[in-house]
Amino acid sequence: MSTPFLWHNGQIKPWAEASVHVSTHALHYGSSVFEGERVYATPRGPAYFRLGEHTRRLFESARVYEIDIGYSEDEINAACVDVIRANQMPSAYVRPIVFRGAGGLGVLAKRDDPVDVAIIALHWGAYLGDAAERGADVCVSSWQRPAPNTIPGWAKAGGNYLNSQLIGLEARRNGYDEGIALGHNGLLSEGAGENLFLVKRGKLLTPPSSAGILAGITRDAVITLAADLGIAVEERDLPREALYSADEVFMTGTAVEITPVRSVDRKAIGAGTPGPITQQLRQAFFGLFDGRTEDRWNWLSLVNAVVPDREDQEPAIHRRTPQQQPASMEASA
Ligand SMILES: Cc1ncc(COP(=O)(O)O)c(C=O)c1O
Repeated sequence: MSTPFLWHNGQIKPWAEASVHVSTHALHYGSSVFEGERVYATPRGPAYFRLGEHTRRLFESARVYEIDIGYSEDEINAACVDVIRANQMPSAYVRPIVFRGAGGLGVLAKRDDPVDVAIIALHWGAYLGDAAERGADVCVSSWQRPAPNTIPGWAKAGGNYLNSQLIGLEARRNGYDEGIALGHNGLLSEGAGENLFLVKRGKLLTPPSSAGILAGITRDAVITLAADLGIAVEERDLPREALYSADEVFMTGTAVEITPVRSVDRKAIGAGTPGPITQQLRQAFFGLFDGRTEDRWNWLSLVNAVVPDREDQEPAIHRRTPQQQPASMEASA
């Protein structure tokens, strides 16, 4: 699973050399924020999909938890490019992560406690295996999304994924590919790691960004592509039964890309095969990477394009010294 190099605290390093101390704050309290990004092999070489938007969301997530990343958005973008170049990858799944490091065991990290930043790139195929082609079998989970004002869904934080794990574990145990969660109000929210779309009489329906969801970047791309294709999109509250009467259902996310859903709670959706609008959107989406869909939104950034002014910048390396000293035992919880 590993690749030869990753980026850690300002430096490209061999994979095995990036380690953290067991007292790392994020390990105890979930205090990490991260992104999942994809690099696609295009006719013009490897290209990030919406790198700037992912980096922006990383910074917004960090802001919610008052984590100082210590690098600029441009530096993180450049580091993401460097990881792909260092590993000479034609395509990749990329995971930038920012986490409170080893500084002490108090729940509230101190202002000068270390923050680690790492970027890992992996060779990753379809997240849900062949479900991407045949259509996924999903269930509505007995676990709900956190209520508003509990754990903020817009921030992509490590701790959020305990909820996703419960949803996913239950789904897999019961023989499903994935689980869909309802929100605190019993209305549709999203999958364990993906946003949700329904097709009803030719129109796309999706829960609003206030439905306890992560405001997905693929979700936004699908809404944009749908508008471009003349498909109406409505973001609105949806009850659970809307799933069972939908003509088509699909999930979106960096990992699952656009994955059709062929059944929910063992009830077939439509004809039980990926529907025409889902297929149309998949073609438009994947066309971005083989050139069939014109990238009118500048969503792609080429890894091997010359990055201007990099030499003029203060080098990003050693801006923050990784601290691996033993933690002081001042645990408050
Ligand atoms: C809980 C959750 N919802 C939705 C998404 C989809 O977001 P995006 O399209 O930005 O990858 C993800 C994936 O990051 C996720 O983890």
